[in-house]
Amino acid sequence: MSQDIEQIRQQALSELKQAEDAESIRDLSVRYLGRKGRVTRFLRNISELPEDRRPAAGKRANEVKKELESAFNDALARLSEKQEEKGAIDVSLPGRPAPVGTLHPVTRITRMIAKIFERMGFGIAEGPEVETDYYNFEALNIPKNHPARDMQDTFYVSENVVLRTHTSPIQVRYMETHQPPVRIIAPGKVYRCDSDLTHTPMFHQVEGLLVDEKVSFGDLKGTLTALVHQIFDPQTSLRFRPSFFPFTEPSAEVDIQCVICRGAGCKVCSDTGWLEVLGCGMVHPAVFENVGYDTDRYSGFAFGMGVERIAMLKYGINDIRMFFENDIRFLRQF
Ligand code: FA5
Ligand code: MG
Repeated sequence: MSQDIEQIRQQALSELKQAEDAESIRDLSVRYLGRKGRVTRFLRNISELPEDRRPAAGKRANEVKKELESAFNDALARLSEKQEEKGAIDVSLPGRPAPVGTLHPVTRITRMIAKIFERMGFGIAEGPEVETDYYNFEALNIPKNHPARDMQDTFYVSENVVLRTHTSPIQVRYMETHQPPVRIIAPGKVYRCDSDLTHTPMFHQVEGLLVDEKVSFGDLKGTLTALVHQIFDPQTSLRFRPSFFPFTEPSAEVDIQCVICRGAGCKVCSDTGWLEVLGCGMVHPAVFENVGYDTDRYSGFAFGMGVERIAMLKYGINDIRMFFENDIRFLRQF
């Protein structure tokens, strides 16, 4: 150990006394506290001291480090105060760029989906996130004590009020106040008591609803295929898998080939090669009856897609929870 920490401290402080401008103070800070600075090197070399001297030397060196840090900072602050008093503003300096944020990936995908549907003639509807049992369940043909309620782990606010578990209640609210033809999407936050690699307790869905005369399942398939091919590319594989929802009949779920593993099987797709992105089907006549639509005249399709799931596939993200950790290094990439 060539030099004592007290000596280093003395030298730093006396050099600081001589320093007249910000640049030399910053330079000092680098020479003493920088990565190769003298205090830093001293700390790094403590292991070379005899063992009994190490703890005290380490403690003292850290104190000196803190002392110098604040001495340098104070000196800089005093200097800039002085300059301000003198009104010393260098007008020739280039301006400081204001930091600009980026859109959250979930917002980007939601807007992308909205734009694609806008081009197909869909409007946008909204509804409340705190929803009544009636709109979230009953009107969608899910009576109390029906086993289908277990499909979605619900956060209850009170006996008849829930955090909406899906965007489907917006369908009902919209149909109550509008007559066919209906062509809307409804994006929004939904809540379920659920958490793992592909599930979060709050996530986003985009609901879709189209009601008119002579709407068929073929229209539904065509619309969703067009959507997937525009979000990804026309080569993307998707499959319609028969499923069940109380508010649609027939019902299907759509899976997209997992882009993380290209269908080979991985953690994200639970080794199936596919990731479920949405549920859909032909609107159940019971739902039409609840809103007073003529079931002989009208038919329609509906779907509800998971925005985060689509974003995971679009950007190759293997853990859904990253969307909500707000790590700036992650968010900056979009
Ligand atoms: C529904 O929520 C139905 N309302 C969808 C629907 C609408 C069917 C209209 C028919 C007609 P499901 O529970 O499967 O269905 O959720 C839909 C999509 O949301 C899923 O495909 C998935 O992409 C996404 N999702 C579901 N749970 C979570 C979660 N916890 N975290 C993130 N995404 C989720
Ligand atoms: Mg599902």
